[in-house]
Order: sequence, then C-alpha cells, then structure tokens
Amino acid sequence: MSPAPEPLLRARHVSKRFGAVRALTDVGLELRAGEVMALVGDNGAGKSTLVSVISGADPADEGVIEWKGRPVRLGHPYAARELGIATVYQDLALCESLDVVGNLFLGREIRRAGVLDEVAMEHRARALLDTLAFRVASLRVPVSALSGGQRQTVALARALLGDPELVLLDEPTAALGVEQTVQVLDLIERLRDRGLAVLLITHNLANVKAVADQVTVLRLGRNNGFFDVNTTSQEQITSSITGATDNTAMRAARAWP
Ligand SMILES: Nc1ncnc2c1ncn2[C@@H]1O[C@H](COP(=O)(O)OP(=O)(O)OP(=O)(O)O)[C@@H](O)[C@H]1O
Ligand SMILES: [Mg+2]
Repeated sequence: MSPAPEPLLRARHVSKRFGAVRALTDVGLELRAGEVMALVGDNGAGKSTLVSVISGADPADEGVIEWKGRPVRLGHPYAARELGIATVYQDLALCESLDVVGNLFLGREIRRAGVLDEVAMEHRARALLDTLAFRVASLRVPVSALSGGQRQTVALARALLGDPELVLLDEPTAALGVEQTVQVLDLIERLRDRGLAVLLITHNLANVKAVADQVTVLRLGRNNGFFDVNTTSQEQITSSITGATDNTAMRAARAWP
C-alpha cells in the first residue's frame, strides 16, 4: 500500500474562546484531496466554530493551520478563498429576490466594456449547474421559488465558481427531505470524484456512513475520536460523540494532528 498523501489542510492545536466559553481547545484536523471528512459532535461541540476558523471568518486565538504543508494565516474569508477553500454556511447566504444567475455571480459579476455580461454569466452558470445535475426550467427564476435541495445546489455552485480544492459544508442536509438529501450526498460524491476535499458537518450518522471516508469527532470543544468510516460502526461513532467511550475509541493508527 502506498503511504497516505500529504494532507491538503492540517489544523493543529487550534483554540478559540468566546469570552468565558472555550469553543475549541487544542483541536486538530487533517483533510486530504479526494477525501470526504465528516465532522460530527453534539450541539455546541465546536463544529461551526472550527469551520469559521478554517474559512477565515473568525480566526483562531491559538494554533496553526497548514495548507499543503505550509503554515497560512486565515485572517479573512478572502484569504481562505484565495487558497482554494470554499464555504457553504448553513444559512446558505443566498439573496432570495435575485435569480439563480444573479446569486451565483453576486460580487463577482462578469462585465464586458464595463457592462454586466448577462449572456456570459448565464452560459457559465448553465455549464456549472449541468455538472451538478441541477434541473430547473429557467435560471432566471428568483431563488425564493426554489426547493431546499435546489437552493443547496445553488449555494454549492456559487462556492465552486472559485474553483476550490476544499469545500466546507455546514449541515447541508439538515433542512432537506429524503430525496433532496440523496441529491446533496450525490453532489458530495461528485466533488470527491473530481479530487476535491470535502469537510461535511452533519448530525446524521447514516449520511456519514453513506458518503464520508473519515470522521472526526468533537466533544465539548475537543477532539474525541478519529475514525475510518469503513471500519467503524455507527455505534462507535455515537459513543464517541456522547462521551461513552471517551478517548479510548480514538483511532491510534494515525498520528494525532
Ligand atoms: N459568536 C459566539 N459568541 C459566543 N459564543 C459562541 C459563539 N459562537 C459559538 N459560541 C459557543 O461556542 C460553543 C461551540 O459552538 P458551535 O456553534 O461551534 O457548535 P456546533 O458544534 O456547531 O453546534 P451545533 O451542532 O448546535 O451547530 C458553544 O458553546 C457556543 O455557544
Ligand atoms: Mg453548528
């Protein structure tokens, strides 16, 4: 077996406080290209805080983030985006009144001679959404008219426009029905097939089993487990989330980041 490739992203000893609340304490995480990493843990475990740190939205107080083996400063979302880190937040941050094309290119409009090039943007939007198997009659419908799954796809497409290497998804299926959830899981697999790394936050362990390769568990703001999905049962992951097994469940084979 060939050795595991170098991580695309490695977080080490990341700590973050909000006043008296220790949201993250000495947390580590590793993500490789072509890998789906699930980030799980109970409410308040620190998952969204870790996403904010990696996306540059809310930098850590302490710790090191390495991108392709080099320490980087992620002091602002632009910094992360420049590196190739795209984030889809749980609220999706779409503009309800704008149409699909308008949402995709919001803040990065294509212009020609200073004028918005609507034809070029629609063309590019259609090509991208086709790769995500997104089907609506018109890309000129306002986002408010789309289903939850379709909105999720638009938000993901918006993230993919920047050609990222890592995509952070904070609970992308939380508000979705069964069929739409399957669609989003398919999308995640498609991203992995393209060689992207995906960090997937979810409370749904069936989804974790279905789509993730690895799982990182946070509990009370600390690492509490690191598993290979194929060799781990849902029960083991649950125990790690609730603290029933504490650190004994941690996979020892890989050095702690
Ligand atoms: N902006 C903030 N100000 C103060 N406390 C915060 C802030 N953001 C998060 N926290 C606290 O940090 C801890 C971790 O929260 P975080 O949102 O990261 O958890 P989570 O794992 O994403 O939970 P959930 O599954 O409910 O989304 C919680 O105790 C939370 O109350
Ligand atoms: Mg959260």
